[in-house]
Amino acid sequence: MTGAASGIGAAARQWLEDRGDEVIGVDLAGQEVEADLSTEAGRRDAVAAVRRRCQGRLDGLVAAAGLGASHVPVERIVAVNYFGCIACLDGLREAIAATGGAAVAVASNTALALADFGGPLEDVCLAGRESEALAGAAEQGGPRCYVVSKRALIRFVRREAPGWMRAGARLNVIAPGPVRTPLLTRDLAHPEIGPRLEEFPLPAGAPAEPQAIADAIGFLLHHPYCSGSVLCVDGGGDAQMRPDTF
Ligand code: NAI
Repeated sequence: MTGAASGIGAAARQWLEDRGDEVIGVDLAGQEVEADLSTEAGRRDAVAAVRRRCQGRLDGLVAAAGLGASHVPVERIVAVNYFGCIACLDGLREAIAATGGAAVAVASNTALALADFGGPLEDVCLAGRESEALAGAAEQGGPRCYVVSKRALIRFVRREAPGWMRAGARLNVIAPGPVRTPLLTRDLAHPEIGPRLEEFPLPAGAPAEPQAIADAIGFLLHHPYCSGSVLCVDGGGDAQMRPDTF
């Protein structure tokens, strides 16, 4: 569980532990594995430490570590949300396939709603050219970096899921709307990003509690036939914004 120290990751950890699962948390601090997923060295150490702890056999991976659109420096948003996430997915794929397990990446419903917002940087991410992607990201605003990171992540999952399935493992992605976590609090407090977030349609009327996202993550981890699914858990926001696109 990356990002296990807070918000959605912490709730998903609790969900799994309540069912008796043993969880290896990965985060900057306060978890079994302390690692900075914004750097290559941190990702390598994290993957190696998890592999050691699970002895090469992992039932599931939840890649929840991430930064919001208000984070600075903005290129770190892409470094953690995309490159940190896919390094864990790639690095632990074999251990997950060894058990016939599953991985769930955490994206965002903004990646679906703002499909034209990402631009060419998405392809640079998907080509694995991290230095170029981070240099390009540094010239953009935080919201664009966030959407690029999450759109590239969803496209990565869609591209990789069939190969995972053939190897006996499942890979899916969840697209939450606003969730009551420290990340959302920080984004809402930002003088420009906060008001833009408030404008997003939210039929549910209020952000989700992290437990609601954890329930959906649990469903995807255990479902034997979901593969490459993009599951919106967003209080109806995506349906309101894109009723005719699916
Ligand atoms: P959060 O801030 O409560 O938790 C994120 C966790 O990621 C923190 O524990 C943080 O230390 C960890 N993290 C950040 N950078 C890291 C790094 N370099 N290395 C290792 N760990 C790092 O945030 P929240 O809301 O739980 O976010 C989890 C995921 O859900 C993120 O990917 C976020 O983009 C996504 N999401 C959140 C939404 C929300 O409204 N809260 C909406 C849609 C998606």
